[in-house]
Amino acid sequence: MTEQRPVVVSGMRPTGRLHLGHLHGALANWVRLQADHDCYFFSADWHALTTSYDRTEVVKQSEREMFVDFIAAGIDPQKATLFVQSQVKQHAELFLLLGMITPLGWLERSPSYKEMRENITDRDLALYGFLGYPVLMTADIILYKATRVPVGADQVSHLELCREIVRRFNFHYGEVFPEPQPLLTEAPKVLGTDGRKMSKSYGNAIDLGESAETTTKKIMGMVTDPARKRRQDPGNPDVCGIYYLHKVYSTPDTVAWVDQNCRTAGIGCVDCKKKLLEKLAPDQERMREKREALLARPKDLDDLVELGTRRARETAERTMVQVREAMRIG
Ligand code: TRP
Ligand code: SF4
Repeated sequence: MTEQRPVVVSGMRPTGRLHLGHLHGALANWVRLQADHDCYFFSADWHALTTSYDRTEVVKQSEREMFVDFIAAGIDPQKATLFVQSQVKQHAELFLLLGMITPLGWLERSPSYKEMRENITDRDLALYGFLGYPVLMTADIILYKATRVPVGADQVSHLELCREIVRRFNFHYGEVFPEPQPLLTEAPKVLGTDGRKMSKSYGNAIDLGESAETTTKKIMGMVTDPARKRRQDPGNPDVCGIYYLHKVYSTPDTVAWVDQNCRTAGIGCVDCKKKLLEKLAPDQERMREKREALLARPKDLDDLVELGTRRARETAERTMVQVREAMRIG
């Protein structure tokens, strides 16, 4: 029965605890997908090495936190398959084989490769693994014959490359793989406490499952419309991170109420923040409790991931049997 559902694959690099940006940008969408798709969600630990090869210890430490966050956010390990990329060696085998048919020019032209080479100047990224990153990503996806890949806009060019590699493979060796499409759901804007995009590296993040107390502290200290200096100044919700959080957490009625009363100075920012916390604080508290329960039983968590990894390995191996046969190798 599950065989007929469309297959979804997505991965995340384990880089530590996730924040509300990850939750509303990616995880909430994964949670929705698991209801009617055959989902594979994995820790992209090999991908993390492309930029953290000299800090490998943080990769494994971050992994448990990340899986805990997945589950706290509502991913159900009974419905979706959770696994660790490096524990399914078929990813490496397919990566190698795809490398044989991927022209260098395709990789060098990749916009995200060019952009990262230009922007990241504090480390040397002239590395084979880094250039080949989208080939590994292609292997991740097509090993499970996924047709839908929920990713952010920054990953769409990788998906295009993935489809080109699939076409080339199918042309040379026969139709083995479907062409996956990106699933670009509109991610709500989530700003950090300083009004910039929420990001761990900016130090402005509210982590998923922070206590009601710290969440409240962070929200009460959060930057709002900088033009709204006094209570009687009208504000512009469109430049305010609190307003964007209302859009995620509050009812449409409340959002309309904020919009109107911000512009007319009918409410102050403190009122507005308190209103947001009515929903946000208990929501965070619920995830905090779930996280704690999961972290208290690390063995159970490891077992869940181990089970998922075994399941992923079986699917991956079935595909590799076809690949080896199609290529007449191995
Ligand atoms: N490249 C993705 C990122 O950095 C992570 C990733 C690796 C991924 N393999 C994938 C996402 C396969 C979707 C499908 O966010
Ligand atoms: Fe932002 Fe609300 Fe203050 Fe308006 S009233 S600036 S939306 S916090």
